[in-house]
Amino acid sequence: MINEAQLLFKKRYGHTPPFQSQAPGRLELLGNHTDYNQGLVMALAVDRYIFMAGAPRGDGKIEVASTAFPDAESFSVSHLEKNPRAPWADYIKGVLLQLRGHGIAFGGFNATLHGTIPLGAGMSSSAALELATALLVRKMYPYTVTDTGCAQPPARDKTGALPVLTSPQKMSLAKLCQAAENQFVGVQCGLLDQISSLFGKEFHVVQIDCRDLSVEHTPLVGEVAVVVCHSGVKHALVAGQYNQLRQCCESAARKLGVQSLRQIEPRQLTAQKTRLSPREYECAYHVVGENQRVVFGDRALRADDFEQFGQFMFQSHESSRDFFKNSCPELDLLVDLARRHPACIGARLSGGGFGGATINLVRLPQLKEFQEAMASAYEQKTGIPMKPAVCRVVDGAG
Ligand code: GLA
Repeated sequence: MINEAQLLFKKRYGHTPPFQSQAPGRLELLGNHTDYNQGLVMALAVDRYIFMAGAPRGDGKIEVASTAFPDAESFSVSHLEKNPRAPWADYIKGVLLQLRGHGIAFGGFNATLHGTIPLGAGMSSSAALELATALLVRKMYPYTVTDTGCAQPPARDKTGALPVLTSPQKMSLAKLCQAAENQFVGVQCGLLDQISSLFGKEFHVVQIDCRDLSVEHTPLVGEVAVVVCHSGVKHALVAGQYNQLRQCCESAARKLGVQSLRQIEPRQLTAQKTRLSPREYECAYHVVGENQRVVFGDRALRADDFEQFGQFMFQSHESSRDFFKNSCPELDLLVDLARRHPACIGARLSGGGFGGATINLVRLPQLKEFQEAMASAYEQKTGIPMKPAVCRVVDGAG
């Protein structure tokens, strides 16, 4: 099926684009702000995407046009700098800079992009854009990325296709995209978003252990629907607040004499409470609890015990609200409304917080009632229109 990135390409450049890539958004199912604490997290790649289409060009120029913005962004391969008028292109330039830093050679290209991931919903449109960029460049200018540089580029087969990425190559690419976001965009995010978008598997939960960077897939099948409720708010200073939370967790770990909060058990934390400032304790309490909930949540999922799993989701949200303090009144309201609806198995904020969306596990037979009740109650209380969206769990970027 032709997507809108391909249509835009054809319209601008008069021919069908020879290369395309796509990367899904993700939902954080359980395990909040655990990733940069070397912790555990469960995520889903879902059927909202960044699509890109492209073709190489010979003059060293890069032009990227998006269906979401009127002006294309043009720059040269050797001049990768921020343009305050096109902040969306920072994710692309950040990735190109990282590729170059890894010793990967690429020339100019024309590219178009189209996104179906709602912006500001906390569904990782940024990670998807980074990955779609990296994969599109790989198709135009084949490369093999490693953690520290690059290896022999892959050969195309008779049809011109490249071999699929191996798991270690995927992990190196996820790290490269994370570095683009950390160093160029300035958000000190962990690896959750990039790993989930790349390692996603249809009908499966992506389970990530951020200490050894192992990834496992657990089936998510049953009479449940995954529903996203977008609060419609995104509070200012999100990047600054995110970075502060990360610093707080890291200073807590330092004071506890460990490399990361992953090494701390709940009992140890309580025993050593006085070594931390009250805020450090709250942050650590949340992260340590989240790691535990992922362990127990995993057991519940493997036993097909969605009811139990849902309870961990509610607890996770309460911990965000009361301890980590990365919720906001609109997200709390969405979770409260969901919890009171008989169709809801579990609900919590998903992702960084301070606005964005909640993820809800909903009993399939009552899905419609849930959607209608949530939409009308939320609008009535906040004046913000909201359409609960059902997401399908899909394969990762390619
Ligand atoms: C954002 C970041 C992730 C992760 C989540 C919170 O999505 O990009 O790395 O920290 O917040 O779990």
